[in-house]
Amino acid sequence: MSRAAVLAGLGSALPDRVVTNEELTALTDSSDEWIRTRTGIRQRHFAVEGTATSDLAVAAGQCALKSSGQGGADAVLVATTTPDRPCPATAPLVASRLGLSGAAAFDVGAVCTGFIYALAAAAGLIAARTADRVLVIGADTFSSILNPRDRTTFAVFGDGAGAALLRAGEPDEPGALNTFDLGSDGEGRDLITVRAGGSQQRLAATVSDPDDQYFTMAGREVFRHAVQRMERSVRAALETAGWQHTDVDRLVCHQANQRILDRLADLLGIDPRRVVSNIALVGNTAAASIPLALHQAHGDGSLRAGHRVLLTAFGGGLTWGSVTLTWPRLAALDGSTSGPSPEN
Ligand code: UT7
Repeated sequence: MSRAAVLAGLGSALPDRVVTNEELTALTDSSDEWIRTRTGIRQRHFAVEGTATSDLAVAAGQCALKSSGQGGADAVLVATTTPDRPCPATAPLVASRLGLSGAAAFDVGAVCTGFIYALAAAAGLIAARTADRVLVIGADTFSSILNPRDRTTFAVFGDGAGAALLRAGEPDEPGALNTFDLGSDGEGRDLITVRAGGSQQRLAATVSDPDDQYFTMAGREVFRHAVQRMERSVRAALETAGWQHTDVDRLVCHQANQRILDRLADLLGIDPRRVVSNIALVGNTAAASIPLALHQAHGDGSLRAGHRVLLTAFGGGLTWGSVTLTWPRLAALDGSTSGPSPEN
């Protein structure tokens, strides 16, 4: 009998330090007006030096494990572009710190699509009966790789982590993840990249340009790809789920830019009031973006049991992916279960 991966718990964590647009303009050549109108971002959280990606991942993971009531996990997946170290992966340390030593643990690298890819990998582990409960964490500390002289990236990204606990269940029960649409195009690898520090341009050797150690993004071109790739991916995920665009109660899109969310909703014919957005307060948190948005939307009641939810992301690689699910009855942030069935 086929087994589905069913959403059973959520968690998230943000560093304490909030950096408003006004504060940011003291660090880089930008303005509050430009950032708000071009991206929708008003503030972001930056980790202080000494706070690693694993610290945020552990805090988010603890919260998801607790809220799931599952008592643990057999596998831990960490989607990240900013691992604690180039080697080893961050996931085994996170598993150990969560008291899950011995669990299968590995990192997933798909930049801002990482959480969707990790969910798909977790669903595969569950379907293959390799694991019954998988903790999936998206965590990034992009402030550690941003170039303060590059205002297009410095103004956009923030740090954070989000987590989901998936358990084995039935394909037709609420919370079961449907078939994923995933894709990639390596021809676009230069559009979102950190050039140095890997095997191709080693940091120990002379780096041709000191700025190569930092994250870069060809913003305008990436914007165009993001809209096109997510639109196509969403349409593929809707088709496999047998849903129409009008069936979508909540679109939870990777939070890269409010203008991308608006454009995507418009192209897909989805009412903007059904689009979940937290970008104003957290910025683009890369792999953490979708689980953070899910946890916050669940907490404030904008995601409710019975909602038909569509997740979609786009990121470096290039990579993209989408999946649908019906929102389950989950423990709310205060420990009670989530509210009544949706009205809109
Ligand atoms: O998360 C993974 C996927 N990422 C995305 O999907 C992000 C997609 N891209 C974007 O969200 C947008 O392209 C950005 C927010 C990154 C940039 O916005 P844009 O409207 O596409 O700006 P642009 O790069 O085309 O630049 C337009 C102008 C330029 O000035 P000139 O050459 O016209 O004089 C930039 O130098 O805006 C300038 N600019 C800024 N000005 C003030 C760029 N960034 C800033 C800034 N503050 N922070």
